[in-house]
Amino acid sequence: MKAVFKILFVLTGTLLFSFVLKDNSAFETTPYKVEIPQGFPDIKVPDDNQLTKERIDLGRMLFYDPILSVDSSISCASCHKQEFAFADTVPISPGVEGRLAGRNAPTLTNVAYNPTVLFDGFLQSLEMQILVPIQEHAEFDFNIVDIGKKLNQDSTYVKMSFAAYNRAPDPYVITRSISAFERTLISGNSKFDQEVYQKKKVMNRSEKRGMNLFYNELHCAECHSGFNFTNFSTQNNGLYEVYSDSGRQRVTELESDRALFKVPTLRNITLTAPYMHDGSIATLDEVIDHYEKGGKAHPNKNPKIQPFKLNKRERKDLINFLNCLTDTTFLTNKAFGNPF
Ligand code: HEC
Ligand code: HEC
Repeated sequence: MKAVFKILFVLTGTLLFSFVLKDNSAFETTPYKVEIPQGFPDIKVPDDNQLTKERIDLGRMLFYDPILSVDSSISCASCHKQEFAFADTVPISPGVEGRLAGRNAPTLTNVAYNPTVLFDGFLQSLEMQILVPIQEHAEFDFNIVDIGKKLNQDSTYVKMSFAAYNRAPDPYVITRSISAFERTLISGNSKFDQEVYQKKKVMNRSEKRGMNLFYNELHCAECHSGFNFTNFSTQNNGLYEVYSDSGRQRVTELESDRALFKVPTLRNITLTAPYMHDGSIATLDEVIDHYEKGGKAHPNKNPKIQPFKLNKRERKDLINFLNCLTDTTFLTNKAFGNPF
């Protein structure tokens, strides 16, 4: 809990910074419009952080720059890797000095749409989320004010910061620019999108049978629904009888929220193993084992999680459907890659 207070303290500081921000209409920027895939709603962008090319360029550099960690050893991209849809391949990603925190690094696929971030829905904006890895002992273990000072010693960053926000690098600029970059990480060109939204005939029979299982037989879309395969709620899917992570309860302190976690998107799911908030399930096959058994008995388990039985072919169909959610253009888009 101490870390949380530390974060709130810094947040208040950041809000004050934003309060003294002068009208910045005097400087010229290049407006940027995110291309919204067919079938997707518009993204919401905060009034004080409209997207511009200058902001996104700066945020992308910071995202890939280890300058954000106390010993300059790791960057955001150390745990959120483009080739794995901005997730990581280990259950728990090491922070500075190899320290391990308790949760699995989630994908940043379509993170612009998330009304809350973190597995327990703790924070309401990407801007605030930036402070978490920066402050966390097991992540960057640094201080955002000190990062601002370091960036001020780098003439490229000073120039880019003025071009983006008309001010020198500081917590305001750091949190906003990285968020601007994150909002561009849109993925909507998977085989599923081509078939369903772009009306091309690309899915084979097995994949379509798997889609039918997903939506109509197994009720996966009770939670993994809509264009982003999540209803954006927090739920318990019966991973354990007793959880070591209290999940949403950490935020609300309600017993009914114990061990509730955000319903994750299933986009690019083939690439984002291992799975669940703690990375405890290694493969999609084992995820299906988990759901087939109806999960473990937890008082808060959602009643929609019920046992079922799939034969070999059905199991293969379901996995083939989940593989259709991979968007290879997202993984190779140079605009999202390392600028250094
Ligand atoms: C050491 C590994 C690590 C580093 C470094 C790291 N993250 Fe994360 N990230 C995580 C983990 C683990 C979570 C889940 C934390 C939680 O839910 O409490 C997470 C969660 C997030 C989320 C929330 C996603 C969602 O949908 O809820 C965002 C956004 C994010 N990180 C962005 C960043 C940015 C930006 C940086 C750099 C400033 C960064 N991360 C650095 C591991 C890391
Ligand atoms: C009652 C809501 C609910 C239903 C129904 C549901 N899930 Fe989930 N699913 C979740 C939640 C919540 C998590 C995250 C749990 C955690 O982090 O511990 C999750 C996690 C997953 C993951 C891992 C995602 C990741 O990135 O780690 C996969 C894959 C998945 N579900 C597939 C399915 C499939 C397939 C079905 C249908 C058989 C299904 N789910 C039904 C709520 C649900």
